[in-house]
Amino acid sequence: MRPFLKWPGGKYRLVPRIKEKLPPGKSLIEPFAGSCAVSLNTEYENYLINDINEDLINLYKTLQAKGDKFIRRCRLYFTAQKNTPEKFKKFRKEFNKTKDIEKKSVLLLYLNRHGYNGLIRYNSQGEFNVPFGRYKKPYFPEEEMKFFYEKFKKAKFTCEDFEKIMMKAKPGDIIYCDPPYIPLTSTSNFTSYSSGGFGIGEQERLARAAAKVAAKGIPVIISNHMTDPIIQLYTGAYIEDFPVQRFISCNGANRNAVTEILAVFGQGG
Ligand SMILES: C[S@@+](CC[C@H](N)C(=O)[O-])C[C@H]1O[C@@H](n2cnc3c(N)ncnc32)[C@H](O)[C@@H]1O
Repeated sequence: MRPFLKWPGGKYRLVPRIKEKLPPGKSLIEPFAGSCAVSLNTEYENYLINDINEDLINLYKTLQAKGDKFIRRCRLYFTAQKNTPEKFKKFRKEFNKTKDIEKKSVLLLYLNRHGYNGLIRYNSQGEFNVPFGRYKKPYFPEEEMKFFYEKFKKAKFTCEDFEKIMMKAKPGDIIYCDPPYIPLTSTSNFTSYSSGGFGIGEQERLARAAAKVAAKGIPVIISNHMTDPIIQLYTGAYIEDFPVQRFISCNGANRNAVTEILAVFGQGG
């Protein structure tokens, strides 16, 4: 099932390949969950879904707590009258101002589906600043939300830094990490999922955490792009690579094929 949010770097199309590398276990931990494409399409008993983006986790927690009632409230925002640049700006302003978590969650879904390319981007003040998307009729992901609600009734949602989550893992857990990519070029750093950044120092911290956790017998699988610094960081892991078509830029001319990797730490990897 597709995630109900559009998410930069979403892994829906790569799920079959990623699943092949995920060993059986009791719980799946996703420290960088984003739209949850991987968790949604696997069959573990328990899920720990984490992301540093607080608005995203609040949306998930609201859907988990309110179910159908919340879905019905979200649907009210998917009308032709609300699909205009003026209304979009008004709702974006409201989103950036409100402290009401349920309202903010409704608006995040609206902004995600009506905003440009489904981008999730915040400015340095932490304000959501994606422009209007100009879609004819934005899709309301009702079935996808219902599926998410049913699937994650028992799931635990947290908003922490990835390392804290990884260090709490116990034998029987499987960890799948999908960190933000290292920019392929100096100008391609097109996403900012939250007001913090994710540079090479963070990639190093993740590789160290993965090695540490794997040494305790807990498998860690990491998705990333094949770049020299990343390969150097993952020495000691088993690495599988495969080319994918990735839409790096809004300018069609810059659609590049990049090599995606899956690094498996632990399990003799
Ligand atoms: C490539 S996306 C994950 C996409 C996801 N696999 C999917 O299919 O939608 C990376 C995610 O990492 C989150 N993130 C960035 N820095 C983080 C950190 N320090 N700890 C936890 N999550 C972080 C971002 O908010 C973003 O949602």
